[in-house]
Amino acid sequence: MIVTNNIDEVRQHRWAEAKLTWGLVPTMGYLHEGHLSLVQLSLAGNDRTAVTIFVNPTQFAPTEDLSSYPRNLEGDLALLEAAGVDLVFTPSDAIMYPPDFQTTITLSQVTQPLEGSSRPSHFAGVATVVAKLFNIVQPTRAYFGQKDAQQTIVLRQLVRDLNFNLEMVIGPTRREPDGLAMSSRNALLSAENRAAAPVLFRALNAAKTAYETGERSGEALRQVMRQTITAVPQARIDYVSAADPGTLAELDVVVDGVLLSTAVFFGQTRLIDNILIEATEDTE
Ligand code: PAJ
Repeated sequence: MIVTNNIDEVRQHRWAEAKLTWGLVPTMGYLHEGHLSLVQLSLAGNDRTAVTIFVNPTQFAPTEDLSSYPRNLEGDLALLEAAGVDLVFTPSDAIMYPPDFQTTITLSQVTQPLEGSSRPSHFAGVATVVAKLFNIVQPTRAYFGQKDAQQTIVLRQLVRDLNFNLEMVIGPTRREPDGLAMSSRNALLSAENRAAAPVLFRALNAAKTAYETGERSGEALRQVMRQTITAVPQARIDYVSAADPGTLAELDVVVDGVLLSTAVFFGQTRLIDNILIEATEDTE
C-alpha cells in the first residue's frame, strides 16, 4: 500500500497503467465500519482503490470541533492495509491550501437548508475539497455514504454542474447494534450521551412507521420525530426534517418519497442521521 502526501506521486500511480479503473473513498479519518464498507464497495468495483485521509479545516466553522475532531492515522493505515487498499493520500493543510489559495466552490440551492442552515460555510468547504480530491486522483468512481444524505445530494450536483468525469456511488448507512449510525464523532460522546444517542434512529423509525401506516403530512412526521427526541433529556434538537429528497424543501404533504432527517446535540457533540423513503408505486 502506497501512503503519500505528495500530489505528483498520486498522479504517477494513478496513471501508471491508464486503463485501470480507480475508486476513490474520501474520508477525514478515524475510520470505522461505515468508511470501510465504502472501501469494500470500491475494492469490489474497481481495479485500484485510493482512500484520502484529510481533516478538511474549511468545512468546520470557527465555533466547531476541528481541534477536537478525533484522529488516529496509524490505526487508520493498518485498517486500510488489511483491507487491501492500493493508495492512501494523506495531505497536510499546507499541501491542500497553500498560502495563496483563492478558490471556493459554492452551490446556490441544495446547500441552503438543513445542514447548510445550521452550518453556513460547511458545504462550500466540502465541495471545494472534494473537487480538489477529484482532480488530484481523477477516479473512475467515487464513494460516499448515505449517512451524510445532503452531502451526497450536494456532491452529485457538483459532479453534474462541473462535468466531473466519474460515477458517484452511494453506500448504505452502517449502524451500531443499538441503531446509532456509525460516526467518528461518536467517540466524543460521554457514556451517558452515548447511551442516549440511539434516539436519532428511533425517532426516524417512528416517523417511518407513521408514514407506512398512512401518514402523509410532513408536519405530522416532523412532530413524531420531535416528540421522540424531546423525551430524552440529554438530547437537544437542532432540526427535524421531512423533505423532498431532490430539492430538500420541507414537505407539507408527502407525494413522491421523503427524506426524513435530524440533527441533535448531545453536549457539544452534534450527530446527524436520516432515512430515505423512496417513492412507492401507489403514488405514481
Ligand atoms: P467523513 O465524515 O470521514 O466520512 C467519509 C465518508 O464516509 C462519507 O462519504 C460519509 O458519508 C461516509 N460515512 C460516514 N459514516 C458512515 C456510516 N455510518 N455508514 C456509511 N457511510 C458512512 O464526509 C466526510 O468525511 C467529509 O465531508 C469528506 C467527504 C471526506 C470531505 O472532507
